[in-house]
Amino acid sequence: MSSKAGKATEPGPDRRAALAQYRRRAGIYDLELALFEPIRRKAIAQLALQPGDVVLDVGCGTGLSLELLEQGIGPKGAIIGIEQSPEMIERARERVAQGRWSNVTLVCSPAETARIPGRHADAVLFHFTHDILRRPEAVAHVMRHLKPGARVVASGLKWAGGWTVGVNLLVLPAALHSVTSLAGLRAPWSGLAAFTGPLHVQTMLLGGVYVASARVAPHG
Ligand SMILES: C[S@@+](CC[C@H](N)C(=O)[O-])C[C@H]1O[C@@H](n2cnc3c(N)ncnc32)[C@H](O)[C@@H]1O
Repeated sequence: MSSKAGKATEPGPDRRAALAQYRRRAGIYDLELALFEPIRRKAIAQLALQPGDVVLDVGCGTGLSLELLEQGIGPKGAIIGIEQSPEMIERARERVAQGRWSNVTLVCSPAETARIPGRHADAVLFHFTHDILRRPEAVAHVMRHLKPGARVVASGLKWAGGWTVGVNLLVLPAALHSVTSLAGLRAPWSGLAAFTGPLHVQTMLLGGVYVASARVAPHG
């Protein structure tokens, strides 16, 4: 595909490929993510959850974030996990049953069309969900279910720049393993900006990983 200017553009996310990718990975996913757990902790800390909050976990996968989210919101809060892969969400269901968390609702659906129950949310997490962030319709749909001022956190892989560009030799295989589109990997959070106030972006692992946080703009 090429743009008007004749510059090559990268294709966007591919649902069929993503479903196949996570059908294959579901059984070993938790093990594969073990190295990245400190980033999950950092991302969830940025959500600044309060007891009683409603939080959306978009592309919740096997539910690896659920325990930390539970700790933040307590029994009076609620978590809505949205995930399109039946194999991934099945593991999240097992996790919920094991934790006996009665305040978690799991929705098996593409984020862009998910029926999101309950009141508008106080916070949303997009953790390692690049394919979702690259779907403007998914981001817009999720954002419509947030309160003005809600906290938004996105985290994941990104291209490193400057003198750390060599890090991309590690980012590339990791990204190819977990997303179906490399488009926008320079600033994966960019699609959120239309809905939020200023985004604060922290980078880690020599620029190969980011945590971006912001608040939904008053009329977002
Ligand atoms: C790398 S995993 C991240 C899972 C989880 N957030 C975590 O932190 O472990 C990306 C997840 O996004 C899901 N996904 C990709 N595109 C999606 C979409 N359009 N709607 C809902 N889920 C999607 C995949 O099925 C996969 O489970």
